Amino acid sequence: MIIDGKLLSAKLKAQMAEQVVALKEQYGRVPSLAVILVGENPASQSYVRGKIKACAECGFESILTTMPESVSEQELLAEIAKLNADERVDGVLVQLPLPRHINEEKVIDAIALEKDVDGFHPDNVANLWLGKPCIKPCTPKGVMRMIEECGFDVAGCNAVVVGRSNIVGKPMAKLLLDANATVTIAHSRTKNLAEVTSKADILIAAVGRARMITAEMVKEGAIVIDVGVNRDAETGKLCGDVDFEGVRDKAAHITPVPGGVGPMTITMLMQNTIECFLNRQNK
Ligand code: GUN
Repeated sequence: MIIDGKLLSAKLKAQMAEQVVALKEQYGRVPSLAVILVGENPASQSYVRGKIKACAECGFESILTTMPESVSEQELLAEIAKLNADERVDGVLVQLPLPRHINEEKVIDAIALEKDVDGFHPDNVANLWLGKPCIKPCTPKGVMRMIEECGFDVAGCNAVVVGRSNIVGKPMAKLLLDANATVTIAHSRTKNLAEVTSKADILIAAVGRARMITAEMVKEGAIVIDVGVNRDAETGKLCGDVDFEGVRDKAAHITPVPGGVGPMTITMLMQNTIECFLNRQNK
């Protein structure tokens, strides 16, 4: 079974569009997301286009601020401060990665906690790990939603996350733990990776290496979620961290790339924007 992230996203966005009509009735305005894009990284430009398009589909307002690669850290921080102070803005997102001369940590710290739709702010991360109410990072949140779609009982199962980034691997492990999975985080230094992954009832690949998860690394009947977005060195086409053709017959459920986790990440960003909107309205 292929988990169609594009289809599920379309369904969830349609639901949000309806919800937004009701929010407008109740609060007199719609949720609003501000996105800052620095430089001209083609992948980042494409992600940001997707985010702005999703806002329109959900009936949100969006504000796109583009800044040149040469922008100073101070100018970027000033723009964030302006959006933090803007009462009409519910979410502030700075597309990553940033140019090398800008301190990413400082930039993330500068986003108002109540507008941190990415869930990257250190206070948000602390709340996540402490089990307090928080905004959950979009990609792991989308993965959990896709697992839910499989109708699989996560409690007590073996979940293996390959990758330990702050954006995906670490929060992914926490969300699986919160769902009562027995969680293993594997990474580039893991010994006998295949032995670890082949015990996974749920296998999450988030390493950024094209097709590194092959059929012999996967347990028969597993749920395989591919967070990877890589370019095939030969064809130039997008491909995941999972060898999709090799693994698809062994897995019970698998996500494609593209059309799997990617659209869900954006859809969860829309959900987080509504969450920030409601938190701000009801504070
Ligand atoms: N770059 C890659 N993924 C993300 C994300 O989820 N949010 C932001 N802001 N930048 C990213």
